Amino acid sequence: MHGDSVIWGAVVIALVCMAAAAFLARRLSTLRSDREALLQRHSDRLLALAARMENIREEEKERIARVLHDTLGQELSAIKMNCAVLASRCKHDEAISAKIQAMRELVDTAMLTTRNISASLRPAMLDTLGLGAAIEWQVREFEKQYGISAAYKIDPIPMQVNGSISFALFRILQEALTNVARHSGATHVAVTLETVEHDVLLTVYDNGKGIAGDDDEKTDAYGILGMKGRAHSFGGTVTITRLTEKGTRVVTRIPGVVQ
Ligand SMILES: Nc1ncnc2c1ncn2[C@@H]1O[C@H](COP(=O)(O)OP(=O)(O)OP(=O)(O)O)[C@@H](O)[C@H]1O
Ligand SMILES: [Mg+2]
Repeated sequence: MHGDSVIWGAVVIALVCMAAAAFLARRLSTLRSDREALLQRHSDRLLALAARMENIREEEKERIARVLHDTLGQELSAIKMNCAVLASRCKHDEAISAKIQAMRELVDTAMLTTRNISASLRPAMLDTLGLGAAIEWQVREFEKQYGISAAYKIDPIPMQVNGSISFALFRILQEALTNVARHSGATHVAVTLETVEHDVLLTVYDNGKGIAGDDDEKTDAYGILGMKGRAHSFGGTVTITRLTEKGTRVVTRIPGVVQ
């Protein structure tokens, strides 16, 4: 009799322990999924914030580009015209003519600088020639500027890639190339733009030292966050991989662009 009650006692204790363990496991799993959902929400908000910051910077750049073009550009043109008038009136005075000529050359240089700054702030080429041509130009400029050999392969991209997606992809390319020049020590870069089913993929590969695992989480680094934010605002992603052979690959995928 006494033995039976000990057994029953043990069974009851075991059942209570099992129920408590099951309860705790369920609670733990709920807490874990709550935490994951919270992390996901924070990560989405951070990407949305990054996209917003990029948009604000872009609007500011556009404003400066417009002022440069409309105001400074026109003022320089006016100075150039005045120089021409002065030159025609002073053509008998060699010393003054030489000064006016030097001034005209300076004005030409200033106009070119203004145009270059304006173009770097807002690449008009994207609107006029489209994404493919703008990427080609950017890759060639990169090669010239940094002396790193660069190749590109650009599939004809259908018209559905609208202006703001083209613009985002172009800015992502610029940041990825700047990172290659600043951080990778690479001797070669390859850029491809292709469509895979309904998606557009932009890939930037370099043969440098390779990005370290936690590099994109540096607190003072915003380039990669900005790239991800831009892609995120079109439902896309940026995946950065350190390659086992050598180098880094940055793949931007924007879904649902091609019908
Ligand atoms: N292609 C690459 N090869 C090697 N390391 C890279 C490469 N691209 C990025 N990194 C590493 O990732 C870090 C984060 O890059 P990110 O563009 O976010 O910031 P950053 O370039 O340091 O600063 P910025 O905010 O001016 O862009 C870099 O500091 C660098 O260490
Ligand atoms: Mg950077």
